[in-house]
Amino acid sequence: MNEVSDMEVRGKRVFVRSSLNVALNEEGKIADDFRIRMSAPTIRELSEGGARVVVAGHLGRPEGRDEKLSLKALVPRLEELLGQDVSFVSDCVGAEAEKAVSEMSDGDVMLLENLRFHKGEVENDPVFAQQLERLADLYVNDAFDVAHRAHASVFQLPKLLLSSMGPQFAEELKVLDRILQHPDRPFVAVVGGSKVESKARFAVKLAEKADVVLVANLVRDAMPEIPSNVLAASDGVRVGERELDIGPETTARFIEEIRKARTVFWSGPLGMAEEEAYQAGSLAVAKAILEIPRFSVIGGGDITAFLGLMGLREKFTHVSTGGGAMLAYVAGEKLPGIIALEHSYHG
Ligand code: 3PG
Repeated sequence: MNEVSDMEVRGKRVFVRSSLNVALNEEGKIADDFRIRMSAPTIRELSEGGARVVVAGHLGRPEGRDEKLSLKALVPRLEELLGQDVSFVSDCVGAEAEKAVSEMSDGDVMLLENLRFHKGEVENDPVFAQQLERLADLYVNDAFDVAHRAHASVFQLPKLLLSSMGPQFAEELKVLDRILQHPDRPFVAVVGGSKVESKARFAVKLAEKADVVLVANLVRDAMPEIPSNVLAASDGVRVGERELDIGPETTARFIEEIRKARTVFWSGPLGMAEEEAYQAGSLAVAKAILEIPRFSVIGGGDITAFLGLMGLREKFTHVSTGGGAMLAYVAGEKLPGIIALEHSYHG
């Protein structure tokens, strides 16, 4: 597979599939810029190398054009991070985009409108990919967060152009490979959050690799059987029938395991961390992980947002930009975004 450093980018139109799916607040302002901050260094590197950088990404799950999910909202922050102007095109394909790209100079950065405004993106339409291809000479995928999606910009386009994996994407794989292949042991995994069925499957997969897997209440309830090295929540903060956070006994048992760990991998909050009343378990576990230096990886929108809010996120060794992609990779699935790069044109 190619790396960006193998490519001669000067004077070339480089299509960068970036991770830009940030949370917006009710006023349409960026609520958490983590993914943009992670995406900016690759864009900067290409621009400094003299590329004409055509940045593309998605925001949310629009059905057709939806101004509330326009990537235009990201331009000011991207400009701040890059220290240069970023032009914006209000459609990611078509005559306007082609003209704007043809007028770019070396080092310029342009952001295309939300790819998902066209259904061809999520439908993995090869014709839509050909429209995108007209905007570029080279392709870089730096969006690990969509690596599990067989979408046109992830799966079709890299097969049409000389393509490479971006540095942020490569870094994600390096970290995840380390914990999958040769973690410092004891290796403790922590699984919580919503989408409990997939989390339950994932907890079982992780139990084959980790020494101990700590599982929150709702994920526990979705597990048909519990492997012997899975320590499931034994008490919870009850609201009616539901347990919306781990209870004090579980918190103490989880912390005891974490204190022994040299590697911790954590996906999903242990309670409904978006509400203050159910944050205690996640907060106590986060603090235990950070008590001493150890290799710690977190990923998934809810837990990274929560720890960001608590001012703890940047203290972890690695914060993945991926949620579903990270889980799929760690569970051993072959990700479409990686397969496509392996079949890159000339690749
Ligand atoms: C994510 O937020 O996990 C990624 O950006 C993928 O978004 P999606 O689940 O809407 O495909």
